[in-house]
Amino acid sequence: MTEDRQQAGLEWQTGIWNRISKLYESEIDRRFEPVVKNVIARAEIAANMRVMDLGTGTGAVAEEAAKHLGDRGQVLAIDLSQEMLDVASKRFAAKNISNVELKQGRAEDLPAESKSFDRILASLSFMYVIDRAAAVRELARCLRPGGRLVLAVWGGAENCDIVKFQQTAGEFAEAPPVPGVGPGALANPGPLLELLADNGIAAEVETETLEFEFSDFDSAWTALASVTTSQLSESLQVDAKAAVLATMYPDGDGPRVFRNLTQFVVGTLK
Ligand SMILES: C[S@@+](CC[C@H](N)C(=O)[O-])C[C@H]1O[C@@H](n2cnc3c(N)ncnc32)[C@H](O)[C@@H]1O
Repeated sequence: MTEDRQQAGLEWQTGIWNRISKLYESEIDRRFEPVVKNVIARAEIAANMRVMDLGTGTGAVAEEAAKHLGDRGQVLAIDLSQEMLDVASKRFAAKNISNVELKQGRAEDLPAESKSFDRILASLSFMYVIDRAAAVRELARCLRPGGRLVLAVWGGAENCDIVKFQQTAGEFAEAPPVPGVGPGALANPGPLLELLADNGIAAEVETETLEFEFSDFDSAWTALASVTTSQLSESLQVDAKAAVLATMYPDGDGPRVFRNLTQFVVGTLK
């Protein structure tokens, strides 16, 4: 991929995450709590460890990790979106959490020292990484030997309602400037496991079906699709909404539970 294309992809993604940050805090955070809990349970964090939360967003994983670290442990929370980091920063200030450092940066070029992390966690962020080979090299560089990696990624549209919802809406939007990124991009984790193995990280996938609920179609649309479809013409927005309603709510509007196959990639650096 050319540098120009990567740059266009990065600007496109950063714009979306910046625009969604407040909505993420009010509508998404509580619904993704089961994913965060599962990441933390698999991370096996002990006191005084150094933990990286990659793609921290509004800081939910970093907050939970920080609770396990005692006096001398620390979390470095990294995200490419400054507006997400601003929300996270307010969250930590409001809760008097002082052992989380926030840094703007990309998975492909981590602003972090080599061999310095006992744990690297990336909850629902790795599907959006544009250059996954570079990012995996960075994970292997920053982990300490024996360090543990936990990534959470969604399954495919056939068994993950949030992916089906977002992909159906996304069919109406312009093609992204970079291929192979989006909520379902790691539905098949096989190539990622190979990349990890090539970089000395032996990993396996554990799956759970996790749920959240929306009271009606409009609230689900606002939380899950309004930002990515906001630049569509009015008539395309109407078509996109109709398609998602027909696909996701075949029995009509009303409360709906989303059942999401969630894959946890758990690995250790040799
Ligand atoms: C779905 S949110 C997940 C946030 C949080 N980890 C959670 O579990 O709620 C994805 C986050 O990954 C960040 N992100 C996407 N690609 C990234 C990259 N290449 N490097 C760093 N952060 C990235 C986005 O800015 C966004 O905040």
